[in-house]
Amino acid sequence: MAIRKVGVVGCGLMGSGIAQTCAASGYDVVIAEVSQELLDKGMDRLRGFLADGVKRGKMTQEQVDAILSRIKPTVSLKDFADRDLIVEAIIENMAEKRKLYAELDKICPPHTIFASNTSSLTIIEMAAATKRLDRFIGLHFFNPVPLMKLVEVVKTICSSDEVIQEARAFAESLGKKPVLAKDTPGFIVNLLLVPYLLDAVRVYENGLASREDIDTAMVLGCGYPMGPLTLLDLVGLDTTYYIANILFEEFKEPKYAAPPLMKRMVLAGQLGRKSGKGFYDYTEKK
Ligand code: CAA
Repeated sequence: MAIRKVGVVGCGLMGSGIAQTCAASGYDVVIAEVSQELLDKGMDRLRGFLADGVKRGKMTQEQVDAILSRIKPTVSLKDFADRDLIVEAIIENMAEKRKLYAELDKICPPHTIFASNTSSLTIIEMAAATKRLDRFIGLHFFNPVPLMKLVEVVKTICSSDEVIQEARAFAESLGKKPVLAKDTPGFIVNLLLVPYLLDAVRVYENGLASREDIDTAMVLGCGYPMGPLTLLDLVGLDTTYYIANILFEEFKEPKYAAPPLMKRMVLAGQLGRKSGKGFYDYTEKK
């Protein structure tokens, strides 16, 4: 069956980007947060991104108004009762996710597909909190969601082929390229990206090069759009640290072990752009 109505749970950086992207492709979107304050903050971020798009000449004010008219913000999960697809992008905490899915399982009709945007947690463990293991997948978007073209479609040992096909078609309808991944930590991208980012921190920590030179080397030497330390600041050091710990726990390989400097920066609240300081300082730009 065709997906027409989408529900997004979590209006953080990823959730707001996913909601915007779906609405921009014509979907009717409901987006939920746990509090009005967080919802307002997320919607402000979403409106800011759209306003920036207008300033850059990427879209018109009419298009922005049409996108916003298709997004309904809410603090009640009951508003998900008529959704065809739910994309969850809440905090990376298994207990919280399982609690949410158990609740949604009661609210949503049997046909609703549940998709987690988790970057590293095991999808089947979330699915097991519901009675729809065959209609449960991962849909992993990339930051910044409206600009990044990839979606990892994650198939668990229970996801049906039909649901995977629907998910692929859905990702394509958003103008994204879907790739199919198995339900193992890191899927494809983070399995390859995180060790690289950790190595960049090790190079910096060991004093082998300055942060600017590490970034410049990878941009100009390898054609990457941004250097690893700038990317860490964009993704968030806490997010990467968290993923690294999950990868290390699963595979027990040193390449996934977070470097001491990263741990200390996270403990100090130096999380990157979102906290104003990471490898670089963003307070002036703010
Ligand atoms: N609305 C519409 N378009 C916008 C926009 C907005 N608000 N902001 C930027 N754009 C457009 C720009 O106009 C530009 O378009 P053109 O190419 O047509 O000119 C394009 O987006 C790029 O923008 P900029 O030129 O301003 O910036 P940039 O060239 O430096 O690109 C970037 C920015 C896309 C983020 C690029 O630097 C990039 O790809 N960085 C790597 C990001 C990355 O690796 N993300 C994945 C992180 S890992 C992850 O997310 C997974 C996880 O689980 C942790």
